[in-house]
Amino acid sequence: MSETSDTLTVTDNRTGETYELAVEDGAIRAMDLRQIKVTDDDFGLLAYDPAFKNTANVRSEVTYIDGDAGILRYRGYPIEQLAENSNFLEVAYLLIHGELPTADEYDHWTYEITHHTFIHENLKQFMDGFHHDAHPMGMLVSTVGALSTFYPEAKGLDDPETRHMQIVRLIAKFPTLAAFAYRHSIGMRYAYPDNDLSFAGNFLNMMWKTTELKYEPDPILEKAMDRLLILHADHEQNCSTTTMRTIGSSDADPYSAAAGATSALYGPKHGGANEAVLRMLEEIGSVDQVADAVKAAKNGEFRLMGFGHRVYKNYDPRAKVIRELAHDVFEVTGKNPLIDIAVELEKIALEDDYFVDRKLYPNVDFYSGIIYQAMGFPTSMFPVLFAMGRIPGWLAHWQENLLDPEQAIVRPRQLFVGADERDYVPTAQR
Ligand code: CMC
Repeated sequence: MSETSDTLTVTDNRTGETYELAVEDGAIRAMDLRQIKVTDDDFGLLAYDPAFKNTANVRSEVTYIDGDAGILRYRGYPIEQLAENSNFLEVAYLLIHGELPTADEYDHWTYEITHHTFIHENLKQFMDGFHHDAHPMGMLVSTVGALSTFYPEAKGLDDPETRHMQIVRLIAKFPTLAAFAYRHSIGMRYAYPDNDLSFAGNFLNMMWKTTELKYEPDPILEKAMDRLLILHADHEQNCSTTTMRTIGSSDADPYSAAAGATSALYGPKHGGANEAVLRMLEEIGSVDQVADAVKAAKNGEFRLMGFGHRVYKNYDPRAKVIRELAHDVFEVTGKNPLIDIAVELEKIALEDDYFVDRKLYPNVDFYSGIIYQAMGFPTSMFPVLFAMGRIPGWLAHWQENLLDPEQAIVRPRQLFVGADERDYVPTAQR
């Protein structure tokens, strides 16, 4: 029997040289490829990996996903258990600190977040400057970035207390900015935070309060809102989290990094997908049109939004929880008729070879928009709600990156395939 070792032997057929590369945690170090050269002045072999489809650029302890098995765990805890038994602030603490809080830690954390929900009045004026029909996600991106101008001390990244303060502020102020963006877009007076309410209850208060002296959230909708935030709280190295880490790697302050992450989340292939799902379901229009829509998606005429995932090649565990949550919400709000179209779409797609062969299953965004719509949120707010849930995850990764001695400013290499050197040609001679 041949001896085994945790190495990879590579033969460079250009030179006949053989190299032995260490394999650790199922990976080789891309820097180990550099020794592979044809000539002494050769730069060394690079790994080419557009969109990082097969590149790990961090060691992370935050979130584990097994995409083939449909498993998602935050710090080891299955998402289903957290959604059932925990709450968003506790999950946020878990993501950032690595452990569930004790009762005292939880009380202190909740107190801190609750007492940082207000935003500077000048930021409100900033919000007022937006056009009346500005997209709330655009307003969120700008105002989150603007927070950095109010907290210049946030640049003190080496001090744990300073970092902690900005983490608290970002989690606390995100819902306020999100709700204010909505209120601005419909021309309504801003509703200020209410410290008596839970994190989710207060957000619903800032969204929906009108003339009542005290807003009382419906307990079922409050719980549903909280669960939706838990389900969105982290998803390891996705596009926006990678953006957060990348911006953070230049030692920019976390508000600027979070503004970048929010921008990354805005796109329809990422956090904008739930908005796109609703538009798609509305366009399909009725259950009897579903089969034709699936056919059109197979012909490449459009993508079934809310289907498919870079990592999940199985049912997204978050989509399962959300599908169940929909029934609780509909008990209060009445059924959203789009759910029938969605269920039929899922049924037909999951039986179709095109989707089965490509392992395309519903993802988190497939059902979330239907619930949000039933709760009264306009589609433009969907990515905003996603961002509000994701902020603890972004911050957990931002901090992990800063504290990781192996990390440095992110700066990938390129394969240059453009023009060779050529002389400038004056305009008249072109
Ligand atoms: N509808 C129809 N076909 C699809 C879909 C879809 N939603 N998604 C992937 N495919 C096909 C694609 O055409 C390709 O087929 P072929 O091999 O014949 O060329 C194959 O499946 C692989 O697709 P891909 O684009 O190479 O896969 P990817 O890993 O680059 O993309 C994705 C992942 C999420 C961007 C993509 O599945 C997609 O665009 N889905 C719709 C948008 C969506 O729901 N996004 C939310 C993602 S979950 C929330 C989040 O993380 O933000």
